Amino acid sequence: MSALPYVLILYYSRSGATRAMAERLAAGVESCRGIEARLRTVPPVSPTCEAVDPEIPAEGAIYAELDDLRHCAGLALGSPTRFGNMAAPLKHFVDTTSELWLGGALVDKPATAFTSTASLHGGQETTLISMLLPLLHHGMVYAGLPYSETELTETRSGGTPYGASHLAGKRSDRPLDETERQLAYAQGKRLARLALALEGVGDRS
Ligand SMILES: Cc1cc2nc3c(=O)[nH]c(=O)nc-3n(C[C@H](O)[C@H](O)[C@H](O)COP(=O)(O)O)c2cc1C
Repeated sequence: MSALPYVLILYYSRSGATRAMAERLAAGVESCRGIEARLRTVPPVSPTCEAVDPEIPAEGAIYAELDDLRHCAGLALGSPTRFGNMAAPLKHFVDTTSELWLGGALVDKPATAFTSTASLHGGQETTLISMLLPLLHHGMVYAGLPYSETELTETRSGGTPYGASHLAGKRSDRPLDETERQLAYAQGKRLARLALALEGVGDRS
């Protein structure tokens, strides 16, 4: 594996919309020299707790391990909106991170969040904030999207100062439009720049 620092892009996606966003953030990260993107996902959860998923998903990014999080230089969390909140599979993974919290492994590292919804006013901002909460508990430095990204004031679909978002439509078949693509890319690029700038800051014991 490369010795370069990496931004972990950790997402859950059921029908591909959040995954498409994750890939745009990754392109933004990779546009910066000296840092790379690591895409990871989490398995679905089931009310039948005995159900176990294959260790490697059929397609897309592989499942995240705690060490992916421990050693990242920055973190982007992505989730579809579920009742105005992050999806349970992502929350389930986040709830396994207390060991990292106890050791302060993520303190002073930059983080951001992104989401996808079926409807325009279906809770993008609240979902982004739901992902912000555990990041703050971990001592991470949250970076949203600044209004210097002019698409923020012009968008008729996704894009918020709390993080990138995507309007996927009722059937989850609306692709990222140019504005949404640009904002997700800018968010990845900004996170990568901040990760490089903050490397070595804080107690990472
Ligand atoms: C249980 C559940 C709850 C949902 N809640 C919302 C919601 O509150 N607002 C909304 O606009 N879309 C909601 N959706 C739709 C998803 O957020 C939307 O389809 C999203 O784009 C899916 O992302 P994905 O393709 O990455 O799985 C919900 C979907 C499910 C399955």
